[in-house]
Amino acid sequence: MPKTASVSPRPALATDLMTSLGELLRQWLPRQRWFAGKDRPVSELGLLSMTELFPGCLHLLVHTGHGGVPGPGGASAGDCYQLLLGVRKNLSPRLGRALIGRAERGPLAGLTIYDALHDPRSAQLLLERLRHPGTAGPLRFEGDPSVPVPAGLPPRLLETEQSNSSLVYGDEFILKVFRRIQPGVNPDLEVPVALAGQGCRRVPAPVAWFRTTHPQGATLGVLQPYLRDASDGWALALQALASGDDFTVQAHELGRAMAEVHLALAAAFPGSGHDDNGSTAAAMTERLNSAAHSVPALRPFVPGLQSAFGALATCDSGPPAQRVHGDLHLGQVLRAGREWFVIDFEGEPSRPLVERCAAQSPVRDIAGMLRSFDYAARQRRPWRPEWARRCREAFCGGYAALAGWDPRKKHGLLRAYETDRAVYEVLYEARHRPDWLPVPMAAIERLAVRGD
Ligand SMILES: Nc1ncnc2c1ncn2[C@@H]1O[C@H](COP(=O)(O)OP(=O)(O)O)[C@@H](O)[C@H]1O
Ligand SMILES: [Mg+2]
Repeated sequence: MPKTASVSPRPALATDLMTSLGELLRQWLPRQRWFAGKDRPVSELGLLSMTELFPGCLHLLVHTGHGGVPGPGGASAGDCYQLLLGVRKNLSPRLGRALIGRAERGPLAGLTIYDALHDPRSAQLLLERLRHPGTAGPLRFEGDPSVPVPAGLPPRLLETEQSNSSLVYGDEFILKVFRRIQPGVNPDLEVPVALAGQGCRRVPAPVAWFRTTHPQGATLGVLQPYLRDASDGWALALQALASGDDFTVQAHELGRAMAEVHLALAAAFPGSGHDDNGSTAAAMTERLNSAAHSVPALRPFVPGLQSAFGALATCDSGPPAQRVHGDLHLGQVLRAGREWFVIDFEGEPSRPLVERCAAQSPVRDIAGMLRSFDYAARQRRPWRPEWARRCREAFCGGYAALAGWDPRKKHGLLRAYETDRAVYEVLYEARHRPDWLPVPMAAIERLAVRGD
């Protein structure tokens, strides 16, 4: 066999595939940034489906469990992950970073297993699959026939991968390969398709996607136009802060862009009605109490923060509930040319899909962005809270100019949603980056004491 030959197991061998892969994946999965159960050993690992996508590349959906122990932030005791595994006799050194390990037993014994998304050849073949709608086992490859995707676009894997893996093809398209899979249509496909149907140009429209029909229907990946020369809002905000530049013009335009997206979302998903502020406030209070239980620094502020939620419960109804972005911050917006674009409509991946797709107050998104300006202004000492305040003001002004209502005039709603977000941040920082705890705590203090 040539040194780099691809090797595939026969489908009949799929059942004992985990004899080959089980131990390797148990070690490898927790090291991946997109793996949700990092701090817990993978005690259960099961194969849900296996498809030979092309020779030398296996598509797997696996179930992982942690002995029934639920994870932090609501991560469930069990999850489903999508893997594309390369199988070769030997791995070339340039793919060293993709190595998962050498199988010792079972049908793949003696072969090297690696993450195929790092392999340009596999990435190219995956694009070929997407260019030609069709099926492979339980997998369905579909697309918008009106948008031609050229053959042979050179792939590169984005290094910034976080909760998913993204491949850029020839700076023309970007394929987001979802890692943690939940049953149903992923909102990152559903929402951009619906917004494109509304003629909304703020969101790159999907051109091809793939999904599985087994074990349950679920979206697995989405190909969209790649915005060349785009910078994300977070990088731009930090740049402006570092050079002492004003960012209010960009923030105002971002507010307008977000209002445009919210209007298009309301039109694309009509009939959502009003949020029940009482039950939203109750859920926020519960999250606060549970966070205060884990983070002692939060406790002195609990009564002040509870008053924010109490005020929400008695607020007049506010803007109607609607489909929202769900995880809006400066890292989820891109600026290309002089235009803002909004990406990543998945919502918070740790929340169940039904919750993420439910109608919510658009104030939730606005609060997310306002908190993000504050985070940017506190990345380096000296902190620049006045920079954040000006950006927040400009963002709300831009939003109000188009939306028909002004977030600044919904003080009670905004305070409650910002508080809820800041409580989430406190919990996150306490767990993962204790040095950063002072950043959300500064907001907690402001929201609890002054509430402005
Ligand atoms: N259409 C696009 N054009 C250019 N870059 C993009 C595009 N979509 C995503 N990106 C880049 O990929 C990164 C991650 O994308 P995102 O959809 O937010 O994935 P994740 O769910 O992993 O956060 C973004 O921060 C951005 O840098
Ligand atoms: Mg993102």
